[in-house]
Amino acid sequence: MHDLAIVGLGPMGQNLARNAANHGLSVGVYNRTTSKMRDFITAHGSEQLQGYATLEELVGALKTPRRVLLMVKAGEVTDLTAEAIGGVLSEGDIMIDGGNSLFRDTIRREAHHRARGVHWFGMGVSGGEEGALRGPSLMPGGEPKVWDALEPLLRVIVAKDFAGGDCVTHLGPDGAGHYVKMVHNGIEYAIMQALAEAYTVMRDGYGLEAEAQEAFFAAVDAGPMGGFLTEISRIITATKDDRGAGWLLDQVLDTAGQKGTGRWTAVEALKLGVDGTLVTAAVNARVSSSDQPGRVARAEQYARQAPDTDTLPAWADTAPTLQTALEGAMLLAYAEGFALLRAAAEAYDWPLDLAEISRIWQGGCIIRSRVLTQWQAGFAAAPQAQPLALPWVVAALRTATPALQTVTALTARAAVSTPVLTGALQRHLAHTTARSGANFLQGLRDHFGAHTYQRLDREGVFHSAWGS
Ligand SMILES: NC(=O)c1ccc[n+]([C@@H]2O[C@H](COP(=O)([O-])OP(=O)(O)OC[C@H]3O[C@@H](n4cnc5c(N)ncnc54)[C@H](OP(=O)(O)O)[C@@H]3O)[C@@H](O)[C@H]2O)c1
Repeated sequence: MHDLAIVGLGPMGQNLARNAANHGLSVGVYNRTTSKMRDFITAHGSEQLQGYATLEELVGALKTPRRVLLMVKAGEVTDLTAEAIGGVLSEGDIMIDGGNSLFRDTIRREAHHRARGVHWFGMGVSGGEEGALRGPSLMPGGEPKVWDALEPLLRVIVAKDFAGGDCVTHLGPDGAGHYVKMVHNGIEYAIMQALAEAYTVMRDGYGLEAEAQEAFFAAVDAGPMGGFLTEISRIITATKDDRGAGWLLDQVLDTAGQKGTGRWTAVEALKLGVDGTLVTAAVNARVSSSDQPGRVARAEQYARQAPDTDTLPAWADTAPTLQTALEGAMLLAYAEGFALLRAAAEAYDWPLDLAEISRIWQGGCIIRSRVLTQWQAGFAAAPQAQPLALPWVVAALRTATPALQTVTALTARAAVSTPVLTGALQRHLAHTTARSGANFLQGLRDHFGAHTYQRLDREGVFHSAWGS
């Protein structure tokens, strides 16, 4: 009898199944298209890893309570698949949704399946194909007793944090796990866009070749923000074209796809009144990238002066400043994500532990980085602190802010689009300005709508006859 069933043999399901079997778990797998299951079993099947052509056969071969991990396309497909599996499961069995589901769907599904006696457990999985095979970061949410039933099994397959702990923890009830995964992806969007902007500054502002770009990313990778995304930034800049001459990146079409988790994060930030400048800028950058023919046409219509590289500071001077600015923007991407998680904990009444979240993101996942040990220590020492109030964050951003000012002035001059670097600076200036310009907004609002205003010099709510 199998310890675990996996339904859905896309890249993630296949690699998680191999991971679990490699670690001694007995795994049964099923896929809608049976030929894909058969090919997979031909390549990787063993006594530990067996395939089934029907859900009935799969479910009949599981230990009780039955534990079925769904790794199917998020959205309607998850509902359809869950209905089919739910029909053959028994009371007390568990379905785990490892897809990138919207947390509100998880809340709905949990209630729906609970009413039928089957437990629904929402679990974010990060790390892509390689993480799924070698050890992902898992972000589970659901009933504590279901966590108890799954914990030993999940601990076997996950990545390790920097101190050797398991990159999994119970995050809270119903949608908490998928929410944390959503915010993880939002941070990922912002960091990736910041890295892409640094690349664009090098390529378009300075006309640097791949070797110099690689050297820059190697320096970032060796610095305090070093991690998976900085490492692969170095790798992709230094990869030769396997279908022609030159560098592979130079032949890649400049339109970026998206599957929704970044947009969900931006929308959630708006809903909860958290400043989501960086993730929103990153989503918008993908949106503008997607209309490549339109951009090419407008580049001609709005023809602007080619960047005058002669008036830019020498690259040797700019490189360390760009690195510090990039590191500041990356740090702010984490800060923005943690601020959203803090607000969500309150809004949805989830016991989100930011130190634990910083810990489970240290291995396996896409945003893993050395800096997460600092976030972990910072939140462990001050669990209720706002991210920007942590002393080490203050020190780092005091250094990064002038660099962001220099770099964004430079990119404005060179006409290089850097929405996340610029947004990071503007977000940070807004949050660290003692007297904002909102008194002007209040003046306008009170003038046209009698919306009233408060004063600095006395208590109360006031309305004035402006202009009289
Ligand atoms: N790829 C990543 O890096 C990554 C990382 C984290 C999380 N995720 C999430 O993990 C889940 C699996 O991702 P994936 O990349 O491995 O594969 P995917 O392409 O998102 O999904 C593939 C699976 O969904 C099934 N499927 C698709 N349309 C279906 C339909 N109309 N009815 C029934 N089944 C259908 C496929 O069955 P057939 O083979 O029969 O088409 C296959 O089993 C997704 O929710 C994804 O968002 C992915």
